[in-house]
Amino acid sequence: MAAETPGKPHPDEIVVLRDVKKSFGEGQDVLKGVDLVARRGETTVIIGGSGAGKTTLLRHIVALEQPTSGEIYIDGENIVGLSERQLNRVRQKFGMVYQYAALLDSCTVMENVAFPLVEHTKKPLKEIEAKVVDTLKILGLDPDVTKKFPAELSGGMRKRVGLARALMLEPPILVYDEPTSGLDPLTSRVVDDLIEEMRVRFNVTSVVISHDITSCFRIAHQAILLIKGKVVARGSPDELAGGDSEVARDFVRQSGVDVRQVGRVSKG
Ligand SMILES: Nc1ncnc2c1ncn2[C@@H]1O[C@H](COP(=O)(O)OP(=O)(O)O)[C@@H](O)[C@H]1O
Ligand SMILES: [Mg+2]
Repeated sequence: MAAETPGKPHPDEIVVLRDVKKSFGEGQDVLKGVDLVARRGETTVIIGGSGAGKTTLLRHIVALEQPTSGEIYIDGENIVGLSERQLNRVRQKFGMVYQYAALLDSCTVMENVAFPLVEHTKKPLKEIEAKVVDTLKILGLDPDVTKKFPAELSGGMRKRVGLARALMLEPPILVYDEPTSGLDPLTSRVVDDLIEEMRVRFNVTSVVISHDITSCFRIAHQAILLIKGKVVARGSPDELAGGDSEVARDFVRQSGVDVRQVGRVSKG
């Protein structure tokens, strides 16, 4: 399964990992030679049980972690061995949406969403605030929400606020770590729809970590099954559920989700 293709990735391949290994010390081999390609404009969902190395893998993709060995290309650039300053530039290509939206509780919605622009640009505050209001509106949130604190919002609203913040720097790639975790099924489906809407409306590439099989079937163009730091299967969700890989079929079956009943929201 190793990608033998040397040299620069195809321009369509916005995220490419080749034989990526990560060890945090003796006996702590977390990634054991991961090959992965996420295509521009598509949704790639990485599934796997807890402790498989999914978050670690995502941290490598967004340049927060450097591999022990292997190559990582982001938008055509090999990011392994770059300086901290160069990595900071690469990190700005990603909008990150965390499990519990990771909003600052003591800050208003306005302060939370405005933060990346205040931090990384010299735009006037008025302009930043207008952009915050516009983006929240696109996500279906009223301007009044900007004055509220995260604790005053529902789970679904917090998710939207987290998304708005991730979109502020207009990144080409959005990454989500367990976006539906801890949400009720109804809100989870709303989040799936949002992920797809973000992709279509803002023309972004999405990389999603999940152990929600329903979500994977609804949004993924490509699903990748990670077990104990290795990719054991990849393909469309249907290919994982009914393909050659027994491990993948078992993983899908053990979720208890009747995948034939799951409606797809990802188009194209
Ligand atoms: N900075 C670190 N130092 C040591 N071990 C780590 C570190 N980060 C992650 N790990 C270990 O890597 C393994 C996989 O973790 P993680 O990537 O969070 O898995 P997942 O997201 O699939 O649940 C875990 O055993 C975890 O303890
Ligand atoms: Mg994780």
